[in-house]
Amino acid sequence: MRSFCIIASAFAFADCALAQTATERVIPTLPPQINALPSLTPTILDNSAPDAQDCPGYIASNVVENGHGLTADLTIAGANCQAFGNDIADLVLEVNYQAKERLNVRIYPKNIAPANSSWFILPSHIVDQPEWDGKTTAESSDLKFEWSNDPTFQFRVLRASNNEELFSTYGHVIVYEDQFLELVTNMVEDYNVYGLAENIHNFRLGNNHTQTFYAVDAGNSIDRNVYGVIPFYQETRYHDGTNTTSHGVYARNAHGQEWLLRESTIAYRTLGGSFDLYFLSGQNGNGGSSALTTIAQFQTGCIGTPAMQMYWTFGYHQARWGYENISVSQGVVDGYREANIPLECFWHDLDIYDLYRDFTNNDVTYPLPEFTQWIESLHENGQHYVPIIDSNIYVSNPKNESDTYAPYENGKNLQIFIRDPTTGDFYFGNNWPGFSVWGDWLIPSTQEWWTNEIVNWHKGTPFDGIWIDLSEAASFCAGSCGNGRLTENPVHPPFLLPGDPLTFDFNYPEGFNISNATEAASAAAASASQSSVLSASPILPAPTTTTQGRTEPTPGVRNLNYPPYVINNVQAGHALGKSSIVPNATHNDQYNTTEYEMHNLFGLQISNATYHALLELFPGRRPFTVGRSVFAGSGKTTSHWGGDNTSTWGSMFLSISQAFTMMMSGIPMFGADTCGFARNTDYQLCSRWMELSAFFPFYRNHNVKATIGQEAYRWSSVAESARRAMAVRYSMLTYMYTLFYYAHTKGETVMRALAWEFPNDATLRETYNQFLLGPSILVTPVLVPNTETVQGVFPGIGEGERWYDWYTLAEVQAQPQENVTLSAPLEHINVHVRGGSILALQQPRLTTRDTRNTPYSLLVVLDESGKAKGSLYLDDGESLEQNATCLVQFSFADSCLNFSSEGDYHASQPLANITITGLADPVNGNNTHQRRDWAHHGGPQHSSLQYGGTSCDTSTFDTSYDNGVLKVSGTEKYTEGGAFQKDLNLCFEW
Ligand code: GLC
Repeated sequence: MRSFCIIASAFAFADCALAQTATERVIPTLPPQINALPSLTPTILDNSAPDAQDCPGYIASNVVENGHGLTADLTIAGANCQAFGNDIADLVLEVNYQAKERLNVRIYPKNIAPANSSWFILPSHIVDQPEWDGKTTAESSDLKFEWSNDPTFQFRVLRASNNEELFSTYGHVIVYEDQFLELVTNMVEDYNVYGLAENIHNFRLGNNHTQTFYAVDAGNSIDRNVYGVIPFYQETRYHDGTNTTSHGVYARNAHGQEWLLRESTIAYRTLGGSFDLYFLSGQNGNGGSSALTTIAQFQTGCIGTPAMQMYWTFGYHQARWGYENISVSQGVVDGYREANIPLECFWHDLDIYDLYRDFTNNDVTYPLPEFTQWIESLHENGQHYVPIIDSNIYVSNPKNESDTYAPYENGKNLQIFIRDPTTGDFYFGNNWPGFSVWGDWLIPSTQEWWTNEIVNWHKGTPFDGIWIDLSEAASFCAGSCGNGRLTENPVHPPFLLPGDPLTFDFNYPEGFNISNATEAASAAAASASQSSVLSASPILPAPTTTTQGRTEPTPGVRNLNYPPYVINNVQAGHALGKSSIVPNATHNDQYNTTEYEMHNLFGLQISNATYHALLELFPGRRPFTVGRSVFAGSGKTTSHWGGDNTSTWGSMFLSISQAFTMMMSGIPMFGADTCGFARNTDYQLCSRWMELSAFFPFYRNHNVKATIGQEAYRWSSVAESARRAMAVRYSMLTYMYTLFYYAHTKGETVMRALAWEFPNDATLRETYNQFLLGPSILVTPVLVPNTETVQGVFPGIGEGERWYDWYTLAEVQAQPQENVTLSAPLEHINVHVRGGSILALQQPRLTTRDTRNTPYSLLVVLDESGKAKGSLYLDDGESLEQNATCLVQFSFADSCLNFSSEGDYHASQPLANITITGLADPVNGNNTHQRRDWAHHGGPQHSSLQYGGTSCDTSTFDTSYDNGVLKVSGTEKYTEGGAFQKDLNLCFEW
């Protein structure tokens, strides 16, 4: 029924536009009005809205101290104010020194009927709820809680060692209503706050920003709510530039909410739930505190550390919406191989499905068993396969027996879908396939159903991981719009889909008109021609909406769909139910919990369910799932991609700050749609983006239908950029994997802001045009078009830090805080290694499997004092519980390289060579005595090797020394049983 205009060549605009005549049009079955809701005024923009700070506040009484905290009653201190809900007069305060570094403050209603509990209390079986460690007391805590009743209850949290005030509601009232909570903290001048993911915003959030949280299906909306919700921030204070401090605040609450970052305060407002605040000292035991420690404390103490990923998932992934059939897909696989560009994993979007229905196969374009064999051929080549699964389930047309859709029927038999409270039947929303339902993860049988569907589907579609989409959960109509209309299924959504006629996207990145003037003109003409065809006879009626005034709180009633406080939801008109399951939809648990409470948790829950389904399918193997909507704690089971970004330089730049916030949120397996999802990319943007993403943990190129193809081999420059950047990435896969090991075991970050590694340099507080991978690798990407240079800083220079070019091993010459101009031809990304590091490297191949089988080499990069260290984690790369692991520690000091390992895992690849750089005079430092001697000798006179305690003959070593770089090869013959099987000690005499 649909006709598609597929653009094979990048610039076939005119043909495509002309081919789309009115007769070919697809007219959506559902009118746009089906998604129309009244337009509301967000409270932050509503001058007539009440000021909740006029509410009376609370008075504390019955205070009982218990050694590790206190409890008290909080009683409303005046008449109900009904600001944005119904006041709750009696509350409970619980303060707990939960761990040395963590203080918890809970405020919740005193009298909660079991049936209402989900209104206020977020269950700990859905989102971890940290508790007291059984030993910390008020005296042993890093933190101190103080409170006052003057004039009403207010509290503050101080750093115990120096009484530094970290959080303080002094001077503000606490507001607690059934649909609105508010708490305001005083902030220091020009404060530096980071996090509050998910957002598409500058790294430093700034002092004039509102972060709205409501999981939403909206392409990367800048400064607004996006797909995920992680209510945690980290604050840095620079003091006098020598003892920077850091702390963190996590607000465990899943309701729609807003954080108003203003000049001297942050106001935290939610549409319900409780105050469940966790204050993290950021202290590391030495008295100091840091951002990295704060972030680790958030993960290890509050939400859980991220899942360890399978080794192969760090390879390169290619996706797109629009791979029409098996031969097109094979063409992509061949394209990569022929261009000699690694392709680890092929991803399919909705194209494989029959009429967009999960767990089906399109018999014409992806017929079984041919499709099964095709996937198996990927496996035979050491490659992997991941398909999409949408969160919605198509509803069988009840009047059409040939339309019976088993996944729906199976779920219907178990009665496991979310319900419409007005009919008691399922909630019938709309998505790509037509009227749809959603699994209710609050009841256990939903997991059983989901596992069965996934396991069965795997028989014909033998995937290696799952991509979970639309998990906000997105619906394209307002309310249960399928009520009484299911016999119309399959209905087309109320708008044209990408790929429907007249939907070709003619937008190109900034600067395209300069780099590709002729094509830009042709695209503009084709765009105008498409628009004029559309405007001459519009396909869709113009949507109409009404406006709605403020909802007043009504005693005894919660208005779920239109709460009195209107968050600044990015969806048109701002209503919560817009493009989503409406808040009053109900779950099947004994309390009929509503979406109002659960909305932000759907993504977390479906990803968890998919994780468990994959564990059934592949017992003992780490499940690989990538989800769109995430919540605090999602990283324990899932990875995340940045959602529907655009092929623009701005979008590429913002992917770095987005990545930082995900590192802070315990979801380090993160990456953006490389080269951009919506709009067309161009060779420059795609080159630079392929380079940049090569240093993100999750590295996937993906784009939408009705735009040009953007696989790396399509342009020679992009192909070359990809080959070069991937060569760097694949060389250091073991480093990335080791960083993940530390993320998984200790909550360390994988990508790092410069400010985190160099905390005393206040000039870095906003920097995100550069980043570090772990402590050792500095990446300086090009983020603007039409240039062959890039500027970057080299932190720590002048204070003992040394940096070396990855490619040449030459030391960087720069002044402290100098913004150095670096050469950056299109195919080159600047990568620098930090002095003091030792990296275990392998030789890049076309798959991670083949790379993993190559011999190791060591790169030793010396610091000011001629020292370096590093580590390497090894295991089988896929088991959830490892039978054996190996942790190798490397060090270089006093002209000797040492390593020793712990654990029984055996990597059989030998050590082929060792490179040591930094042996010449440091260009920027003072401590040059030892190296000046070395340099004068022009290389080592003698070397001695002990391997496994046995002396080895080094006369057969091949050594070369040039300008401070010593290269040693010939170590293979001693290490052929496996590089790290035995301890090594290699010393040089000069
Ligand atoms: C959503 C996803 C996108 C996917 C598309 C079609 O927009 O975010 O990645 O390609 O749906 O499935």
